[in-house]
Amino acid sequence: MVAIDGTSASGKSTNAKMVARALGYVYVDTGAMYRTLAWHCLQKGINIHDPKAVAGVCRRWKTSLESVTEDLLHVRLLVDGYAPEKEIRSNETSAAVSHVAAVPKVRDWMKKLQQSCIQFGNLVMEGRDIGTNIFPETDFKFWLDANLEERSRRREAEGVSENLAARDQRDSQRAAAPLMVPLGAVKINNSGQTPEQTCAAILAVIRERLAQREAPRS
Ligand code: DC
Repeated sequence: MVAIDGTSASGKSTNAKMVARALGYVYVDTGAMYRTLAWHCLQKGINIHDPKAVAGVCRRWKTSLESVTEDLLHVRLLVDGYAPEKEIRSNETSAAVSHVAAVPKVRDWMKKLQQSCIQFGNLVMEGRDIGTNIFPETDFKFWLDANLEERSRRREAEGVSENLAARDQRDSQRAAAPLMVPLGAVKINNSGQTPEQTCAAILAVIRERLAQREAPRS
């Protein structure tokens, strides 16, 4: 189980996918799960600033998990049998998601769901609280970050313009499972690095630790 946490647009998705591919593990994007709930709330006309209303949606919505191999083996969350993809990356959903993700009942619900992903096999899971809250016992924890200018440029290149600093601040200041560096995580600031360089650094740590586990004790 590999946990990759970090700030918004710090390269978590790109690197988690590359690491999953290299190890033959299953990729899980937990941010996509929170985005799916935010999208669903917006669709239903729910006030995303009303924690009770958001928790109510979370209690009632009809969801399922499935693992699919498209370009990569990954887990996705379906709502009423439908897996939204483009919709959850819109500016509107991006602006709503951290409000939804701050609701404690939502986090409890997501924790169970994310822990249950282990049914699909060895995971590379990316998010904000994977190493602190979802799988705190894992030996493989990484924390990614990059400077704000570079992160904003990356998001704009994806066609999304948003205030990343404000979102990170909301994610860091919430009471439930706030964004923070997990204990024992390897910290990587990838400003100016290519994804290949960051991925190689992550893989080197994982392989070294796996080799240590397998080495005979003298
Ligand atoms: O990684 P992302 O931008 O798709 O994440 C969307 C939002 O969801 C982000 O504002 C923080 C929240 N999130 C979270 O609180 N915990 C996670 N494990 C993953 C995402």
